[in-house]
Amino acid sequence: MAIFRDGLFFWGEMMNSEKLKETLSEALAEARVAPDIEGLEHVRIKYLGRKGLLPGVMKGLGGLPPAERGEMGKLANRLKTELGGLLDQRREELESGAMGNVSFDFTLPGAWHAAGTRHPIARVIEDAAAIFARLGFTVAQGPDVETAYRNFEALNTPDYHPSLDEQDTFWLESGDLLRTQTSPVQIRVMESTQPPIRVITPGRCYRRDTTDATHSASFHQIEGLYVDTRVSLADLKATMGYFAREMMGPGVGVRFRPHFFPFTEPSVECDFSCHVCAGKGCRVCKFSGWIEIAGAGMVDPRVFKKVGYDPTAVTGFAFGMGVERIAMVKYGIPDIRMLYDNDIRFLKQFA
Ligand code: PHE
Repeated sequence: MAIFRDGLFFWGEMMNSEKLKETLSEALAEARVAPDIEGLEHVRIKYLGRKGLLPGVMKGLGGLPPAERGEMGKLANRLKTELGGLLDQRREELESGAMGNVSFDFTLPGAWHAAGTRHPIARVIEDAAAIFARLGFTVAQGPDVETAYRNFEALNTPDYHPSLDEQDTFWLESGDLLRTQTSPVQIRVMESTQPPIRVITPGRCYRRDTTDATHSASFHQIEGLYVDTRVSLADLKATMGYFAREMMGPGVGVRFRPHFFPFTEPSVECDFSCHVCAGKGCRVCKFSGWIEIAGAGMVDPRVFKKVGYDPTAVTGFAFGMGVERIAMVKYGIPDIRMLYDNDIRFLKQFA
């Protein structure tokens, strides 16, 4: 430090009141971001230490013109009290383990956020959509809140059918309901489109089921509908066979068992041969070699009449299957509730 007649020099620069004001805010900023006690001590030594800025300024004050002296004196005082106070406060914070509000290390690597993985339910729906797209099916969707007409009546389900019971369906006060199946989307598509039709309709459904390892009051279905002039049960079987192989693996086959649905005639239950044991019998297929996957059948002519199609001119097949069920047998998930728990340890296994 050197004192000349025309001013006070410090660290090679002339220290006038302007410069000292700047230096004061720098000093305060340095004290705020000092990461640890050692850092604080450096700041203290640099500005307030015996060979630091403050004693130098104090010493030089006497040589300044009186007009400057007062201002510089005030600033030197502020340096002492404001910086001194801040250093004490920060030291206490650091000692008590509290984070100073601006004390962080900008050089630390940033927080890394893992990209999410597809949920198994979304994965089955997207994979199924891609498989059926190769057969010319597009995707149609409908609302979760449905009219009783589309969910039951248009699907040839009489009002005395047990599925309309209070026990089985969530009825809304308006008289509408939470759809119990994705089949009403068939009705919506046929109401608004003329054949030929090839759609799948993935979506959420609701039933008043008590939750257990294989049931959930809210679950997902994928419905399929194909209407044209000469659609047959053989087309249905070939379609389900293609889907089974693409979804579960090349060796998987299908079989039909007679069944009943109000909106298809004839109706079948469609089983896939077990992809785990190749039909020999294992725990996944409950030692039967077959896994029940879908309900299906030829669209009942009465349904065609409801949507204004000529049942003598068109035929069609429809099928419906549970998305959770496919996910569970495909990925070996033992309990349906695991799909809804949002446990990241479980979900991140599905890329
Ligand atoms: N909607 C039926 C169910 O939920 C499944 C199904 C769809 C059956 C289409 C035949 C045709 O059980």
